[in-house]
Amino acid sequence: MKALVLAGGSGTRLRPITHTSAKQLVPVANKPVLFYGLEAIAAAGVRELGLVVGDTHAEIEAAVGDGSAFGLRVTYLRQEAPLGLAHAVLIARDYLADDDFVMYLGDNFIVGGIDGIVERFGRDRPAAQIMLTRVGDPRQFGVAELDAEGRVVGLEEKPVTPKSDLALVGVYLFTPAIHQAVAELKPSWRGELEITDAIQWLIEEGLRVESDVITGYWKDTGNVTDMLEVNRLVLESLEARTDGRVDGASELIGRVVVEPGAVVERSRVVGPAIIGSGARILDSYVGPFTSIATDCLVSGSEIEYSIVLPRASISGVSRIEASLIGHDVEVTPAPATPRAHRLVLGDHSKVQISS
Ligand code: DAU
Repeated sequence: MKALVLAGGSGTRLRPITHTSAKQLVPVANKPVLFYGLEAIAAAGVRELGLVVGDTHAEIEAAVGDGSAFGLRVTYLRQEAPLGLAHAVLIARDYLADDDFVMYLGDNFIVGGIDGIVERFGRDRPAAQIMLTRVGDPRQFGVAELDAEGRVVGLEEKPVTPKSDLALVGVYLFTPAIHQAVAELKPSWRGELEITDAIQWLIEEGLRVESDVITGYWKDTGNVTDMLEVNRLVLESLEARTDGRVDGASELIGRVVVEPGAVVERSRVVGPAIIGSGARILDSYVGPFTSIATDCLVSGSEIEYSIVLPRASISGVSRIEASLIGHDVEVTPAPATPRAHRLVLGDHSKVQISS
């Protein structure tokens, strides 16, 4: 059994962060979302992993390396353009050879790992095994239609009129039968080779496609709201630890992690929250469900339910909430007069100003 992890694509819904950075490397509790997937794969006993990368390949390679830190042997597979999930399988054909494989979308987050489904697939070996979960708005996903016995009878990618509320989760198990399905595909209306259509092809050919409806937690971290929600969930399971320096005038309440080299002075941090190494929290309030990455500065400010990426600095700002703040960003107050907002925003930035 091999793994195929998809970490290419463009990440338009996380712009502008994804103009300069891979969406799979946006941190959840200060660890890239991709790493949670790699850990789940290694925990399921898989060792050989093909990592599909696109324009952001250098950054992904720098973060993952040869995979040995995860107990994996990683082979990088370069996809020239994000032409679809099934296109990624197509370019991985030689690498995958005639092995079964688990395909994992690098921006998906699943609580509870994949050990159970990998083991069951190894025993039963259907042509494909998929996971489904109920969602509020199925139109953003691949959607499954089940018959009265619970068997998958049809799959549709991002349907305008969904036939159910069961969305495809971004973890799939395949035997080599999938390669013929992929070879038969034509691009969809959005110009991509869809893995959803390849699985539909297997069903139409009468091959066995098994599904599990999962009730545990799953999120596609493709947008900021979901990213903040996953961050909240992971922080919930944090165990308090202070390895950095917290002065006597500061207060840490609840589950707060202060990494080595971090400094908290004259501040109040209410957990769950994590303060990365080298970060400085001065005269500030950091509220629940906040991740402050390495080497950030939060000074004379209040922030909660947010993710702050490395080296950002927030000074003299009264309240930031539900925000994703990129690398090296500077947030400062404007002078009292004239009362005006001064902005230098990158392409596709989103700002909500309360005035
Ligand atoms: O998250 C689950 C959903 O993922 C499923 O319900 C859908 O059926 C499936 O098509 C997929 O939809 P998305 O629109 O969310 O896929 P996205 O374009 O975000 O790509 C998923 C991951 O795969 C992401 O980490 C980027 C990577 N990717 C994507 C494309 C299109 C590649 O590596 N290469 C590609 O060509």
